[in-house]
Amino acid sequence: ATHKLLLLPGDGIGTEIMAEVEKIIDFLGSQDSSVTFEVERDLVGGAAYDAHGEAITDAAMAKADAADAVIFGAVGGQKWDDVPYEHRPEAGLLRLRKDLDLFANLRPAICYPALADASSLKRSLVEGLDILIVRELTGGTYFGEPKEIVDLADGEQRGVDTTVYTTREIDRVVRVALDLAKVRTNKLHMAAKWNVMKTGVLWQKVTTATHKAYAPDVELNLILADNCAMQLIRNPRQFDVIVTDNLFGDILSDEAAMMTGSLGMLPSASLGAPDGSTGRRKALYEPVHGSAPDISGQGLANPIAMIASFAMALRYSFGMGQQADAIEQAIAKVLDSGLRTADIMQDGKTKVGTEQMGTAILQE
Ligand code: NAI
Ligand code: MG
Repeated sequence: ATHKLLLLPGDGIGTEIMAEVEKIIDFLGSQDSSVTFEVERDLVGGAAYDAHGEAITDAAMAKADAADAVIFGAVGGQKWDDVPYEHRPEAGLLRLRKDLDLFANLRPAICYPALADASSLKRSLVEGLDILIVRELTGGTYFGEPKEIVDLADGEQRGVDTTVYTTREIDRVVRVALDLAKVRTNKLHMAAKWNVMKTGVLWQKVTTATHKAYAPDVELNLILADNCAMQLIRNPRQFDVIVTDNLFGDILSDEAAMMTGSLGMLPSASLGAPDGSTGRRKALYEPVHGSAPDISGQGLANPIAMIASFAMALRYSFGMGQQADAIEQAIAKVLDSGLRTADIMQDGKTKVGTEQMGTAILQE
């Protein structure tokens, strides 16, 4: 099979951590003659602004559209703090999300045993934790109209946000979550507030119907979103895949992230609709962290979030789950062996830089 990749390293540590992913791509391509990676590269963020005067060019967007997966580093930095708003580095990422219609945001919370003591929860609760939160990314409270601040009499004001979901928007993200559950442990939770919200009633209705029609073999659990927040702290390992709306997903995914240690460890993916002819979904994979200007250019960045994001691309875009597992196991082993970048350094461990960490993972 031929897999088309677009690499967008971006700014700051983005280029440093992307170099470690490129090593893994080269290795996988050389290992298995039946797998070919067609790799394109382009600029995004401040780097693209410096070269072309915009945060992503139409040419780069065309490459993203043609790619099976976009691998994105990070964008931003002080240098571009004063560029016109529409050209700020983040505009490149926002255009990718919008034009590719990436409506499903996947945020795993994996707790590597070697880092369990850095979790906000007790080791006994989080050791071996592997949760995947699927957050609807393009609808709901953050986008619904009206969205306004209205002047009332006597200087009073009223702020309005509107939570809107259509059956189609819910159905398509629930399908993503069901697909993911099938390649994981076949278990899905849907978190909503059907007790107090009309959109919650619709989420409950559509999820139940889509599950029945599309993947009745997956174990489906409906859970109130506030109870879900509580259960995540009480007993996180009861969850595997959790699908939820934009607002609840924002909060629940940040909550789950704190169970895993450092920002430098957190990967993510954003998926769109399946292509009519190939069935492949548009997809962008990126670390949760930003361009870390405070440590960039020094070879200090932790490449694990970026490498784990690439592992997600293998699993969810290319059907290479075994290779994805191998990468995650390699990360776990390297951490067990005591290697640490500065952000996850602990007493008695060995401090290494970006390249040494990447090479160690590749060797495993
Ligand atoms: P940040 O995530 O870049 O950094 C926050 C802190 O975590 C810093 O101390 C940094 O050194 C550390 N850190 C982050 N990733 C790390 C890694 N892989 N290894 C080791 N340490 C790591 O967030 P910050 O400082 O708020 O923003 C910096 C720039 O990044 C800004 O221009 C911001 O707009 C941009 N940004 C871009 C994002 C993206 O490209 N998706 C997301 C968040 C911020
Ligand atoms: Mg958030």
